[in-house]
Amino acid sequence: MDISLLAQDAASFQTPFLAVFAVDIATGEDAEAHPVLLTTSDALTDAASRVLATGEFKAALGETLVLHAPAGIRADRLLIVGLGRAKSLTPAQARKGAGSALRAAKPRGIREMAVAFPEDRSLSDESIDELPCQATMRAIAEGLALADPDYDTYKSDRKDKAVRAVTVLARSTERSTRAEMEEGLREGVVIAGAQNFARSLVNEPGNILTPTELAKRTAAMCAEVGLQCEVHSTKKLEELKMGAFLAVAQGSEQPPALITMTYEPATKPAADAPILGLVGKGITFDTGGISIKPADGMEKMKYDMAGAAAMIGAMRAIAELKPAIRVIGVVCSAENMPDGRAYKPGDVVTAMSGKTIEIINTDAEGRLVLADGLHYAKTLGCTHLINAATLTGACVVALGILNAGLFSNDDSEAARFQDAMRRAGEQFWRLPCTDDYREQIKSKIADIMNTGGVRWGGAISAAMFLKEFVGDTPWIHLDIAGCAWEDEAKAWIAKGPTGIAVRSIVEWATGPR
Ligand code: BES
Ligand code: MN
Ligand code: ZN
Repeated sequence: MDISLLAQDAASFQTPFLAVFAVDIATGEDAEAHPVLLTTSDALTDAASRVLATGEFKAALGETLVLHAPAGIRADRLLIVGLGRAKSLTPAQARKGAGSALRAAKPRGIREMAVAFPEDRSLSDESIDELPCQATMRAIAEGLALADPDYDTYKSDRKDKAVRAVTVLARSTERSTRAEMEEGLREGVVIAGAQNFARSLVNEPGNILTPTELAKRTAAMCAEVGLQCEVHSTKKLEELKMGAFLAVAQGSEQPPALITMTYEPATKPAADAPILGLVGKGITFDTGGISIKPADGMEKMKYDMAGAAAMIGAMRAIAELKPAIRVIGVVCSAENMPDGRAYKPGDVVTAMSGKTIEIINTDAEGRLVLADGLHYAKTLGCTHLINAATLTGACVVALGILNAGLFSNDDSEAARFQDAMRRAGEQFWRLPCTDDYREQIKSKIADIMNTGGVRWGGAISAAMFLKEFVGDTPWIHLDIAGCAWEDEAKAWIAKGPTGIAVRSIVEWATGPR
C-alpha cells in the first residue's frame, strides 16, 4: 500500500472514497453527542451537515458512516470517521481513526482512497484540543498501514481486497509544517511496516516457523535493511555454556537458534557511548514440555515468539530510522517439547552466567532462554537492556489484555520507557520487582528455581528470575502475554497478532537519552 501526502483542498479532490474525521465536542458525562468535522472546508462541512444533524452518527472512536454522491464535493463517496471525544484529543485517536477509515474501504473493494488531514480548529473552537502535526501525520500513516493486513494467509479462497493507494490531503501552507508532515509520514510508514513484519512472523504456525525458519527470515530482513546478522545453534550454545537455553531446546527435534542483529550508526559513537540490547523470547511453540499444558487452547502457543518478533521488528525500524546509537538485538529461539531427551522437573542446570537453576516446572521455559540471552547481551557490551516476552499467564490475570506488564530495576529508565510508550500510543503498566520479592525464587537445591515458591504474584516471580541475570545494568522487562494476540477484530485493526511493543521499543531506542 502506497501512502502519499498532497497539498490540496479535500473538497475539490477526485477520489472514489474520501475520509474525513469528526469529533464529539459534547462535554459532561450525559450530554448528547455533538459531532463536528475536523475540517476548515465549508464544502465538506455542508456535505455532512444534514446527516450530522440527525444525530445518527455520534463520532465515537472508530464509528464510520458513508455518504454516496455527496453534494458539493468531488469525491464519489464521503466517509465520516469518528475520533471520539474532542477534549484531550491525541494522535492515538487519529491512528485508530485512520485505521477505521481503511478498514471501512477494504470490504467495499475500494482500491484508492483519500484522507483529509484533521485540521486544527482550536482557534475557532476552544473545545477541541490541538493535534501536533508531525505526530498526527505519523499516527495516521501508522493507522493506515496497520489496518491493511488480514491474517487469512492460509485460507485458500482468500480474496485480494487490498487498498493500493491512500492520499492524505493537507492544506497546510507553511513550508515548515509540510516538512514536518513529510517526516511524520516517513516515520509512520517505517514503524508500521516493521510492526506488520513482526505481526506476520507471529501469525505463522509452529510447523512453518521453526527456530531455523525464524532465523532465516530474520537474516533476510537484516540483509535488506543493512543490519549485521549472525545465526548460531546448538554448538555455539554449548561453547557459550548457555545451559538454561540448551535445557529448553533439548526436548525438540528442531535445533535452537541464537540470532544477533547489530545496528551501527553511520558516525562512530564514542567508546563509552551507550549500547542498547534488545532481547526477545522466541519459543516457536510452547507445549509446556514434560510439565505439559492442557490441550484446550494450546494451539495459541505458536505466538510464544511474539517477544522475539517485537525485537526483530524494532531492529528493522531502527535500521531504517538510523538513530545515532548502537543497538544489538538478541533472539533466543527454541521449541519447548516433551521427549525422551527433554529436561525435567528436578533437573539442575547452569546458566551462562554461572548461576545454578533448579527446574520446578518445564513450562516456565521463557525465563530460562532469556536468562542466557540477557547475560549474553551484556557480554556483547550492552549497557542498557530491554526484553520482551509472552512470559506469564499470571501477568494476564493481573492486568487483563489492555495493558502489558512493565518491570524495571531502574526508575529513570522506566520513566524513559513510559514516555516513549505514551508517544507510541501503547499501554504498559509498571509492576514491582523489588528485592523483597526475591524470597519467591530461592531454591533449597540450587541458587534459584525457575518458578515461584508461592502461588501468588507469578508475573513478579518471573521478573525476579530475569533480574538475577542483569545485575546493575539498567533493564526493562515487558511481559506481553496478554497483549500479543487479539481474539476480536476492532474497527481499526484485524484480529490476530498485534505487534505490541514494537512502536514503544523503537521510540525508546531512537528517543532522547
Ligand atoms: N508462554 C507461557 C506464558 C503464556 C501464558 C503466554 C498464557 C500467553 C498466554 C509461559 O511459557 C508459561 O507457560 N508460563 C507459565 C509459568 C508457570 C509454569 C510458572 C504460566 O504462566 O502458567
Ligand atoms: Mn511455558
Ligand atoms: Zn512460553
